[in-house]
Amino acid sequence: MSNHQLLYLSRADVESLALDMPTIISLLEAAFKEKGLGRVEMPPKPGIHTLPDAFIHAMPAFIPALNSAGIKWVSGYPENYKRGLPYITGLLILNDAETGLPYAVMDCTWITAYRTGAASALAAKYLARKQSEVVGILACGVQGRANLIALATLFPIKRVYAYDVLPEAQLCYVEEMSARLNIEILGASTPKQAVIESELVVTSGPILKHPTPTIEKDWLRPGAFASAVDFDSYWTGEALAQFDKLSTDDHAQFQYYRSVGYFQTTPDPYADLGEIVAGLKPGREREDERTMAMNLGLAMDDMAVAPEICRRARERGIGTWLAL
Ligand SMILES: NC(=O)c1ccc[n+]([C@@H]2O[C@H](COP(=O)([O-])OP(=O)(O)OC[C@H]3O[C@@H](n4cnc5c(N)ncnc54)[C@H](O)[C@@H]3O)[C@@H](O)[C@H]2O)c1
Repeated sequence: MSNHQLLYLSRADVESLALDMPTIISLLEAAFKEKGLGRVEMPPKPGIHTLPDAFIHAMPAFIPALNSAGIKWVSGYPENYKRGLPYITGLLILNDAETGLPYAVMDCTWITAYRTGAASALAAKYLARKQSEVVGILACGVQGRANLIALATLFPIKRVYAYDVLPEAQLCYVEEMSARLNIEILGASTPKQAVIESELVVTSGPILKHPTPTIEKDWLRPGAFASAVDFDSYWTGEALAQFDKLSTDDHAQFQYYRSVGYFQTTPDPYADLGEIVAGLKPGREREDERTMAMNLGLAMDDMAVAPEICRRARERGIGTWLAL
């Protein structure tokens, strides 16, 4: 019998640590550089699908430079809000890279939200104009929040146009986020207003396999950057074709999603974020380029951040030790 113990961190435990966004972005930057240099092991995520447009994915990754190995088992259920449940839920396991023994299990809701926002901001660091001040947020949920927090970490944001199909979700976002970030946040009356006014645009609604996209050609200004957290659900093929540079976070996973029915009208990405961060492919080259990050969300993002959460939890005595 082993007397090995692992640390369990509930959602409240993880949230109470409140790992700061600059740290998350820099952990992701280090991981993406490693990925660009071919030093990350990360097979495309297998999944099961118990309902249409819902998923439960297994997401393993090993980042030797960060001594991080583990897996996230994460679900996304678009109808959950009707039951008062989060869209994204799941667990993450960290394994000792020397012995394989699991040493931590944690709720992955917080980490998924924050690392996704951080990945958008990291892409924007390389692909957006540095002085971008106006943000459009389309869908005022968890991702709409985390993406704005991350963008406000790297850019001098002055104004935000926020749109949600649910007026109460939009109102709640405007009140909460303007108080939290101390910037002007205006409710947009249409998706078009949130796009045409903005230099940085984030779409974060439901991911649909057969979307009826809204954003048309010419809505996005020349020189603007967009992050499509919800894949191609919000963008028409004509609007996507207009980007001078469309990046993703992993070519293999992008092609996998295409093969199972997503991204049917999305051009092939010119680079992945790892190649850009490692300097193998250029980021923004001209002021008037329209650029987009189509980040799919990688196990590597989670494994870049999770060991730091675990380290801080141990330091502060947070969490519950469980026998293996
Ligand atoms: N690419 C990634 O790495 C990644 C990671 C995590 C989540 N996601 C995706 O991000 C999306 C949002 O996740 P979340 O956790 O923020 O969900 P959430 O339930 O917290 O928020 C979704 C919001 O979208 C709104 N909405 C629905 N349809 C809309 C529309 N057409 N226009 C505007 N608003 C609309 C809802 O009212 C809600 O406020 C999901 O599609 C999820 O799968 C992607």
